[in-house]
Amino acid sequence: MKIAIFADVHGNLPALHAVLEDIDRQNVDAVVCAGDAVNPLPASVAVWKLLAEKNIPIVRGNHEDYLLAYHHPNGNTILRNSVQFMPVQYAARLFSPAEIAEIAALPLTHAVSAPGGDDVLVCHASPADPARSFSAGIDDEMAAELRRTPAKTIAGGHVHMQWQMRWEDKFLVLTGSAGQPFGENTDAQYLMLSHWGGRWHARHCTVRYSLADTLRMIADSDFLFDGGPIAWLTLDELLTAELRMVPFLRKFCPTPRPSTLPEWAAWVRRYLEAIGRWDALLPYLSEAYFSIESERVSR
Ligand SMILES: [Fe+2]
Ligand SMILES: [Fe+2]
Repeated sequence: MKIAIFADVHGNLPALHAVLEDIDRQNVDAVVCAGDAVNPLPASVAVWKLLAEKNIPIVRGNHEDYLLAYHHPNGNTILRNSVQFMPVQYAARLFSPAEIAEIAALPLTHAVSAPGGDDVLVCHASPADPARSFSAGIDDEMAAELRRTPAKTIAGGHVHMQWQMRWEDKFLVLTGSAGQPFGENTDAQYLMLSHWGGRWHARHCTVRYSLADTLRMIADSDFLFDGGPIAWLTLDELLTAELRMVPFLRKFCPTPRPSTLPEWAAWVRRYLEAIGRWDALLPYLSEAYFSIESERVSR
């Protein structure tokens, strides 16, 4: 038996096409999406529709949760208003109320039945929490959660890295990211699980996709404008497969956070200059950057 599991598409439609085509060639018994299918990239709705059309089960990731929090009647005001979350605000506005209701109905886990009851449980980060990965370290709380989970094989996404570990009687495995991979290789990542010799085995797959198509999709959208300066970091993550947003927010951006859009833009520019990426990005985001800059100067 073979199961293909992918996660963290984040609205990158060309990457999803490449992953699904690669999976199609391999005669699998089941395909599952382990969350963060959408948000923030501009083709998020197209990704959502394609997965529905193909009847691929999806579990809820923290990025689906962001969209739900944005649309909730008592929604988080920071998420709705802060410059930091402009990419979420951009993506959340792409979805219709009916699609948001479908996202709200997603389960946290999806079990795939397997021979001899050796089921695989697919989750986003951990079976109970779509924002906390078991790969980040197994403390007492995580150990209790994993022991409570009947399945011996647990597959997740979230950290955008391909990884596996045996812990007690469990096989813990991460899919990597289909649409926003990290690890200095921009190829789309997914996981193939095969059952033989009485247990599951992981093959960590990568597949080349057209990053040029993704860049065109971004250029044809309002993402770099309406997604604000944080979207520029997402763009550089796609181009380099290196972390940008987390190091920027944790180590570079001052606390308390900048309050205005031009201040955020200036900090993101300073960061990109410090790591030597500003000149490479300028051709993509000069219009977005200078529209903020000219507004600042004209005030
Ligand atoms: Fe993700
Ligand atoms: Fe995630």
